[in-house]
Parts: sequence; C-alpha cells; structure tokens
Amino acid sequence: MTSTLTKPARSPDGLRQAESILRAGGCVAVPTETVYGLACDATSSKAVANVYAAKGRPSFNPLIAHVDGFERARSLIELSPLAKKLAQTFWPGPLTIVAPLKENAEVSDLVTAGLTTLAVRWPNSDAMCTLISRLDRPLAAPSANKSGSTSPTRAAHVEDGLAGIIPLILDAGASPVGVESTIVQTQGESVVLLRPGGITRERIETVLGNSLEEGKFDRSQPNAPGQLSSHYAPSAKLRLNVSSPNDGEGFLTFGDTSKSDGPMFNLSTDGDLIEAASLLFEGMRWLDQRCERIAVSPIPASGLGEAINDRLRRAAAPQ
Ligand code: TXA
Ligand code: MG
Repeated sequence: MTSTLTKPARSPDGLRQAESILRAGGCVAVPTETVYGLACDATSSKAVANVYAAKGRPSFNPLIAHVDGFERARSLIELSPLAKKLAQTFWPGPLTIVAPLKENAEVSDLVTAGLTTLAVRWPNSDAMCTLISRLDRPLAAPSANKSGSTSPTRAAHVEDGLAGIIPLILDAGASPVGVESTIVQTQGESVVLLRPGGITRERIETVLGNSLEEGKFDRSQPNAPGQLSSHYAPSAKLRLNVSSPNDGEGFLTFGDTSKSDGPMFNLSTDGDLIEAASLLFEGMRWLDQRCERIAVSPIPASGLGEAINDRLRRAAAPQ
C-alpha cells in the first residue's frame, strides 16, 4: 500500500516531486486537457511495467507517448506530409498520431507492445509538457484509471481507482475536453480513424480535404486502439437511446428532456456537445454511485457526438 498525495499541478513542490518520482521509474497522475493520464518515463521498461501493473492493463494494449513539441515527435515517428499537416493544425491538443516508429527512437518496447508503429501526442497540458521538458524524455501515459473502467476527468476520479497504488496525483481541476484524444493512423497518403475523440472527424476531414478511412477492427489483434468492445465501463448497466427511464433507473440526459423521479444528470441542458463531452465521464461516475441501471438519452452523432456515442456504446457492451 502506497500513500497517495494530491498536489496542485501548478505548485513548484508538486512538479518537483513528480519529476523525481518519474526519474526513479515511478508513475504519477498528470492532468491533460482530455483526461488525467498516468505518466511514466517512456524510455524505461521498468517504469512502463509499473504503469501496466497499476492499471491492471493487458500487456497487448500499447500506450501513447506524449511529447512537448514537434522536434521530439519527429525523433520518434516518421511523419508523412499529411501527418505533419494534422500535427501543425491540432497540436498541442487532443489528437494522437500513430505512425511508423523510427529505428533509433528511444522508447521502450512495452510502450508499442511490440508493434512497429507508435502513438504520439503533444497535449495541451502545462504540467505534462513541463515534466517532459524537465526529464528531456517522452512520457507514456494511458488514462489514469483501472483498465476497463471510466476515464478520470478530475483528481478525485483518479483517487477513486488508484489511491494506495500510485504515489502522487497532480490536480488541475476538471479536464476541459473530457473525452480522450482522437487517434488517427497515418502511413503515406492514408489516414485511418482508429478512435473518435476530442478533435471531431469533421475538423480533420476539412484539413485533409478528404474523408477519413475507417479503422478495421480485428478482434484477434486488439492492439489497434481502444478497441476492446467493453471499455470505459461503470458498474451500472447502461441502456442507450432511451427517451424516458424505467422505475429505478438513473437518467443520463442531453438537452431539454423531461424530468425523471430517479437520479438524473444532464450533460448539457442547452444541447451543446462540447459541454456534454466535458461532463460525460463525470456524469457516468455520478450516476454509477447512485444506481444499478442507467438509461441514456439519444445523443446526436455529429461532431463530438461521435466520440460520446463511441464511449457510451463501449460502456454499455456486455463485460
Ligand atoms: O487523451 C488521451 O489520449 C489520453 C491522455 C492521457 O493522453 N490517453 C489515453 O490513453 O486515452 P489510453 O492508453 O487510455 O488509450 C490509448 C489508445 C489505446 O486504445 C491503444 O490501443 C491505442 O491508443 N494505441 C496506442 N498505440 C497504438 C499503436 N501503435 N497502434 C494502434 N493503436 C495504438
Ligand atoms: Mg483508457
């Protein structure tokens, strides 16, 4: 049992302590604009193994290497012209680019889980970027939750899953985007959407001037991303596209919906998908603590609705 401290992400003391834990091969929960990540030195297999162990994560699922700029990204992966264009448009921000790993890239095999590609993201997070710069190394960071459970968008959510397991959580309040990064795989002229997320398909397609190709889901090779069909799951059972809940069901709603007698969490009374994404995991956790079954209103499929519906489908999948 480790005692877990929570410190403000801006405090010099918190950052110093995070730096020394990371240098020693440990892991620290660090806020990002999407969700909180469980960061470790991506060049150290010992450190990455610590993260897998803390999360109880199946070892075939590779991690994202976080960087603090284009130069570090270029030292790790081959950026095609289209990948460069996407990076220049959306970094720092909620876009992860999977691309061929460079031969001399300094990154542990445990980060790629043995693949010849690597997922890289430059997050819009002062704490994460400061730590990467101070270590002068990429930080690998999956979401800071037990594998398969709901991603954390607040320090308290990290504590719920990982208190007593990790030494330090840096706290920067609620993650503004609230769903994980969009993951695209680029190779030559091809750009494949592997996971919808914080940057919408529409924005990416506008930059490409083309439609994104769909990621092929191969069940025998779940190393393509977030593709385990049951994921992000609360303990409660979810029922999707419900306009009025049954007795005893909690209600996760969107827009101007009718009242319910049971616990109710509205993702956005104004029907704003950006607000809804930022509150999605928080709402799922809040209802999960209050009911065994959760009904979910229909949510539009466009814009950030694609990522929201993706997370809801996975949360509702049989476990
Ligand atoms: O917003 C985010 O992306 C957050 C924050 C902390 O950056 N991170 C995150 O990491 O969501 P994680 O580990 O929960 O999800 C990363 C996904 C996994 O589903 C993994 O399978 C996929 O990325 N992935 C990583 N490397 C890959 C690769 N080389 N090829 C295909 N998929 C990959
Ligand atoms: Mg995750």
